[in-house]
Amino acid sequence: MYNTTASLRTAFLEFFASKQHQIVASSSLVPGNDPTLLFTNAGMVPFKDVFLGAEQRPYTRATSAQRCVRAGGKHNDLENVGYTARHHTFFEMLGNFSFGDYFKQDAIQYAWEFLTNVLGLPKEKLLVTVYETDDEAFDIWNKVIGVPAEKIIRIGDKSSDKKFESDNFWSMGDTGPCGPCSEIFYDHGEHIWGGPPGSPEEDGDRFIEIWNIVFMQFNRSANGNMDKLPKPSVDTGMGIERIAAILQGVHSNYEIDIFQTLIKATADLLNVTDLENKSLRVIADHIRSCSFMIVDGVMPSNEGRGYVLRRIIRRAVRHGHQLGGKGLFFNKLVATLVSLMGEAYPELAQKQAVVEKMLKIEEEQFAKTLERGLAMLESQLADLSSTEIPGSVVFSLYDTYGFPADLTADIAREKNLTIDEAGFEAHMLEQRKKSQAASSFKADYNDQLTTTHQSEFTGYLNDASTAAVLQLFSNGESVAELTDGEQGIVILDSTPFYAESGGQSGDKGEIEVAGGTFVVADTQS
Ligand code: GLY
Repeated sequence: MYNTTASLRTAFLEFFASKQHQIVASSSLVPGNDPTLLFTNAGMVPFKDVFLGAEQRPYTRATSAQRCVRAGGKHNDLENVGYTARHHTFFEMLGNFSFGDYFKQDAIQYAWEFLTNVLGLPKEKLLVTVYETDDEAFDIWNKVIGVPAEKIIRIGDKSSDKKFESDNFWSMGDTGPCGPCSEIFYDHGEHIWGGPPGSPEEDGDRFIEIWNIVFMQFNRSANGNMDKLPKPSVDTGMGIERIAAILQGVHSNYEIDIFQTLIKATADLLNVTDLENKSLRVIADHIRSCSFMIVDGVMPSNEGRGYVLRRIIRRAVRHGHQLGGKGLFFNKLVATLVSLMGEAYPELAQKQAVVEKMLKIEEEQFAKTLERGLAMLESQLADLSSTEIPGSVVFSLYDTYGFPADLTADIAREKNLTIDEAGFEAHMLEQRKKSQAASSFKADYNDQLTTTHQSEFTGYLNDASTAAVLQLFSNGESVAELTDGEQGIVILDSTPFYAESGGQSGDKGEIEVAGGTFVVADTQS
């Protein structure tokens, strides 16, 4: 019945609305008030302060379909994308939340009712885990719901020195709300290799975790202290792609409607006929994370969130090249994504043109160096006497050809090789030291100039625009004006000039002012 991801999303939200939950729209991937977190990585993130008691909302029950990214930071799935049936950089998390309202029993009952009554999953295909000492959750599953004791698995901490890192103790990050959890697993059948949670074969694909019910009870602070939350609460998370796979009768998430449409669109663009190719899956995954990051204001850059975005775009472009693609393709997938997800996420449809333009600029930029970088790597590999690519080669690829180290690691993995990460880091450190020592005026504007102004970048849609001058510098000093023939630096309130970033040089051009025209020789962020 729920044979599309969209119908499943609606069914989930409506079910919890019928249980007096407020439907809350997905928040941004960039957490608004949380510098500890790179990206929103779970449905509970926008509610962090509500759990902590620092924010009040007019409701005590909420439900959402939250867009999430797990690439970089505590929950990082980037390396696994394409290699497993169920890892993604971007996914949607369905969740229901209680802020000091209901607790264990209702949370468990709601989950069971939704899975078995609404979605109609066979009870015998489900098994559950509880935190090893959580007798209360065990008894609810066993006595109230009727799950046989042998299908309720107690999971403890992975090792004594890794307290609170167990599979059944969930935390958002190194700090923040956390608590013991109870997970629901679906058995995809004997024909798939794998064992139940807690068994030596648990990493197989047979038993897949579909829903995590977290009994939020603590706030972990930076010093490791676990303080009790003001009120015991509930946070649940169900990856929509996994449950869609079950309902659509397939095993891999990449076989569900959304991914199949993206995979086919990519295959058409690149003239690929083998729809099982791993690179198609990687690209279908990456177009979602990259597009939504841009929707949420992340711009490709060489640090922080922007560098995660740049790395994912470059991985996608490399996989397109691997499939024989010679021209630009990645930005052309945005239209397909909008047709699939634009209704549930209107902000994606609204920003389609910006997303396409930003991806196109990045694609064009990397296309210039990709082939030469790959040729350089191939020639180095021909002389390789071990299974590890030396740090110096990884660094050259980064420095000269714009290959992020994890992209080189991705290529290495396909060839059963590894990269010398420590060697690469040593070269990076060396380079930083050298550039500090040789800092020239041009290279280090940011060290030499002080400003409180910020420019808004308008260049993804315009090549020219009108702007106001916010500040001028000459010889490192803030000045009121620049005279004819004088060199200086101008900070504008908005600018279509792209700043030097990631191996791409800053834009050149002209600024017309009432008295004449200035030549723009460089643009720096
Ligand atoms: N917050 C629950 C989960 O991400 O699994």
